[in-house]
Amino acid sequence: MSLRIFRSVAVIMCMMSSITLQSQSMEIEQKIEDLLSRMTLEEKVGQMNQYNGFWNTTGPAPKQGSAAEKYEHLEKGWVGSMLNVRGVEEVRAVQKIAVEKSRLGIPLIIGLDVVHGYKTISPIPLAEAASWDLEAIQHSAAMAAKEAAAAGVNWTFAPMVDISRDARWGRVMEGAGEDPFLGSKVAAARVRGFQGDDLSSPSTIAACAKHFAAYGFATGGRDYNTVDIGTATLYNMVLPPFKAASDAGVRTFMNGFNLLNGVPVTGHKLLQRDILKGEWGFDGFVVSDWRSIGEMVNHGYVPDGREAAKRAVEAGSDLDMESYHYLEELPALVRDGSVDEALIDDAVRRILRVKFELGLFDDPYRYCDEEREKTVVGSEEMEQAVLDMARKSIVLLKNEGDLLPLKQTGQTVALIGALADDPDSPLGSWRLAADDNSAITVRQAMAFYEGNTLVYEKGADVVVGPTSFVRDLETNTTDKSGFDAAVAAAKKADVAVLVLGEHAFQSGEARSRTELGLPGVQQELLEAVYAANSNVVLVLQNGRPLALPWAAENIPAIVEAWQLGSQSGHAIAQVLYGDYNPSGKLPVSFPRSVGQVPIYYNRHSTGRAAPFDPGTVFWSHYIDEENTPQYPFGYGLSYTDFEYSNLQLSAKTINRGEDLTVTVDLKNTGERAGREVVQLYLHDRYASVVRPVKELKGFELVELAPGESRTVAFTIDESLLSFYDRSGKQLVEAGLFDVMVGGSSVDVLGATFELKATGN
Ligand code: NOJ
Repeated sequence: MSLRIFRSVAVIMCMMSSITLQSQSMEIEQKIEDLLSRMTLEEKVGQMNQYNGFWNTTGPAPKQGSAAEKYEHLEKGWVGSMLNVRGVEEVRAVQKIAVEKSRLGIPLIIGLDVVHGYKTISPIPLAEAASWDLEAIQHSAAMAAKEAAAAGVNWTFAPMVDISRDARWGRVMEGAGEDPFLGSKVAAARVRGFQGDDLSSPSTIAACAKHFAAYGFATGGRDYNTVDIGTATLYNMVLPPFKAASDAGVRTFMNGFNLLNGVPVTGHKLLQRDILKGEWGFDGFVVSDWRSIGEMVNHGYVPDGREAAKRAVEAGSDLDMESYHYLEELPALVRDGSVDEALIDDAVRRILRVKFELGLFDDPYRYCDEEREKTVVGSEEMEQAVLDMARKSIVLLKNEGDLLPLKQTGQTVALIGALADDPDSPLGSWRLAADDNSAITVRQAMAFYEGNTLVYEKGADVVVGPTSFVRDLETNTTDKSGFDAAVAAAKKADVAVLVLGEHAFQSGEARSRTELGLPGVQQELLEAVYAANSNVVLVLQNGRPLALPWAAENIPAIVEAWQLGSQSGHAIAQVLYGDYNPSGKLPVSFPRSVGQVPIYYNRHSTGRAAPFDPGTVFWSHYIDEENTPQYPFGYGLSYTDFEYSNLQLSAKTINRGEDLTVTVDLKNTGERAGREVVQLYLHDRYASVVRPVKELKGFELVELAPGESRTVAFTIDESLLSFYDRSGKQLVEAGLFDVMVGGSSVDVLGATFELKATGN
């Protein structure tokens, strides 16, 4: 076939598939209207009501909602969705009631927090973001969707796309870090992964961009706390990943618990109706967060549940998760004329639309195939996917004297730390369907390297007593009885590998911290071992950035291994022993001290940035700490070295509407093959709304053999030069722009160009 014919065929096929999609969606709209016309008001409101299942709970248990009452409501058609019901048997049981007993037989949409894997657990989302590998992240989400869908789930409350600059906030583990550009790319990749090309496939599920919006800016990093941010931050930092998720076709949004500048986001009309459903044209539905409609009363925004329901529906919250106010209040509110039924119809249309798209009306048991569940859940395909993702997520923070990789033979390795032998903590928070204690530990995986002698000592526990997703844990702050044995083992060893950090449930929802050091006695353990043998490799296992200035100063090798999921130990051992060359880069700044938080690279310049009148005190700084982070955004080492040179711009000046090409040469100057994340940053030197000192605007993953070079090119178009003003209007302003390219946000080559006010 000639190229021209091939192109014409491709164009015709594209047109045909878009015509098919259009006619499918017209068909769905007709079916929705037909169904809606047959629904009573109670049945409509029922579609807007979501109940928790019967065992797992992921929020405070409400007073209402006995199992008997839930069954009764299911039969009456008063429940549109359930969450925390999983496994084919359980899903089938509730679906059967909805479909076979309720008058109209409308199927339920079944939601679960499939945040990083279903039963087979992938790295926590923050770790995955450290890979900067969008293909791998998309694949990871696709595998999670396939596994969850095989277990009856057809909707995940993920991705969380909240930008956060505050490591105290336990939920940084669930997002993609501090940057809206990276966050947007990751958001879109995750949505594509979960939803695939065909939502009705039994291997894909609906995704949910959450928490709309600004939840990651909770004051003091305390979960559920108030958010007060300016509109420049809202439009430029917070909203872009949500917009990216919407553009990628995400079918649902979740609002949140927080106030945004005095208004609960669950009742925020500007966000939900005007921006999301208006400006962005989102035609899926918005679910509230757990009881967040009712919590508008606690906030002091409304006097009671009746008013809460009214405000929430008016603002555009379509589905009530566990506050019961929609079911209890909306029918009366409509009947007495306080709420327009058109708002109810709009919400119901949105919810039904997603159910139709999922194929639930064609076959409500589409996700309920016992055979598929058996073959897919926990399969080798899943394990391979999470191992690949885990290796890609590791960030090498320090490697003085090339202590790493470790020699594979003839060495005695002292492996120390409770986390090295803990099969639970690598699963992180949010792994509702995983078996507890099911991760491969570092201890297990290092034992495969039989050329060395491995000696394990716990040293000290991280936490004591029972551990649980729903209770506060008790940190071990006193028991150092294992120190002596750990020190003795280190003394006799060639190298000591310490696995230290956080227990799985020391980060995640409701796990805010005021300190960012190693919890409990682990810092003392680290220092004691180091005093006995300075050949220490510190492997960090944590759900948030930690502030470890002593380790950064003294410990020769530091590996950031986050919470890497089911295959964690293998990924870590392969990196430690050099069977995998790490390539991750930090998606968040690591502070030197908790006092620097919030710390982030895309900050504004102060009027008194250093060096400002050198020798005087009158500039923006701390008197007891540096301004810079310990490890900056975008930072991460490799076992090989990369050299950047020859940064070139295609022009010194461009006009409005013109593109600019940036090229840079990258060479692998080391002795191993490696992968580098080449990062492009821009700085708009002056603007009507002041721009940050640098902002990520592009990145490329480049694999190079030893000695190999490549020229990497970026195209800068006008969208990359734009920003939002304080009313949310997108602007491009003429002026000077600095271009920076490098292997982290601080290690860059620079050039400058001018954007002229003239042009298209
Ligand atoms: C509360 C959390 O904030 C939200 O992210 C989660 O999806 C729901 N609980 C359901 O578990």
